[in-house]
Amino acid sequence: LSTSTAVRSAIKHVTVIGGGLMGSGIAQVAAATGHDVIMVDQTDDILAKSKAAIQKSLGRVAKKKYADDGEAQASFVGEVMSRISTNTDAVAACGKTDLVVEAIVENLDVKRRLFTALDAAAEEHTIFASNTSSLPIKDIASATKRQDRFGGLHFFNPVPMMKLVEVVKIPETSNETFERLVNLGKAMEKTTVECKDTPGFIVNRLLVPYMMEAVRMLERGDASARDIDTAMKLGAGYPMGPFELADYVGLDTTKFIMDGWSQKYPDIEIFRKSDLLNKLVAEGKFGRKTGEGFYKYDKK
Ligand code: NAI
Repeated sequence: LSTSTAVRSAIKHVTVIGGGLMGSGIAQVAAATGHDVIMVDQTDDILAKSKAAIQKSLGRVAKKKYADDGEAQASFVGEVMSRISTNTDAVAACGKTDLVVEAIVENLDVKRRLFTALDAAAEEHTIFASNTSSLPIKDIASATKRQDRFGGLHFFNPVPMMKLVEVVKIPETSNETFERLVNLGKAMEKTTVECKDTPGFIVNRLLVPYMMEAVRMLERGDASARDIDTAMKLGAGYPMGPFELADYVGLDTTKFIMDGWSQKYPDIEIFRKSDLLNKLVAEGKFGRKTGEGFYKYDKK
């Protein structure tokens, strides 16, 4: 009885591997909702930058939360930051944790190697989850002996703003594991949706082909990027048009996902490559972050 109570209890301690764009956001929100967090990355330098980014983002949250009260803002930021520690050794950082969320580079071999090492070091009850956008969870989980305690936790960028998390089940994921992942998503004040381990899960499976269809319309000369964006905003009620969205997500990221899918699923027509997208990426035009993609941006 005592083991099963322990196993069912809520996730309190989270180890986030990867302190980049997504990992730092996940660490921030987990800490802001009362979880103890260890954030892991390759160097102390990267981790210092991640912590600075979290602190800045928390400052913005605090301003909204405690409008005119500077003292309350500072104490909120301080309290959340005090729940985040950092480590450059993933194996050491996962020895005593309820959940490992992996948000490292989108490379299957690297992710598999990481999880194999963690599997040997983590406690029995520890659940493993990947935030991968485009790799099958099953292909990552099979590097471990705890596939029943493995699932996908797919967050959206920027994590503090975006309300959704997709909780992904592989056939081996136990009901208990799935429930604990859903409960963590809720504890992090997100809305959770359940999805099978299929390419792109729900959101990207619909969104990426939609963006690619827009690129193909532009390639054919059917309409301009500006007019396609205006049409989808005013005609379909989308907050951003497909080209604005692609520039925001990053054309390199979009190409990377498309390349993986078109290789793995050559028969799925909507996953096929686009010459225009490939050309922009080859020219270093990745979207907002490089100052140019489909549109030009003022560099900050
Ligand atoms: P990023 O490049 O901003 O961050 C990745 C971080 O992982 C880097 O700081 C890197 O130093 C670190 N890292 C790489 N290998 C490592 C290792 N072996 N051990 C420890 N740290 C390591 O990437 P980003 O955008 O945060 O993506 C991370 C994951 O999240 C990927 O799997 C991606 O598919 C997924 N994702 C990305 C989204 C996005 O909008 N960027 C949205 C949802 C999921």
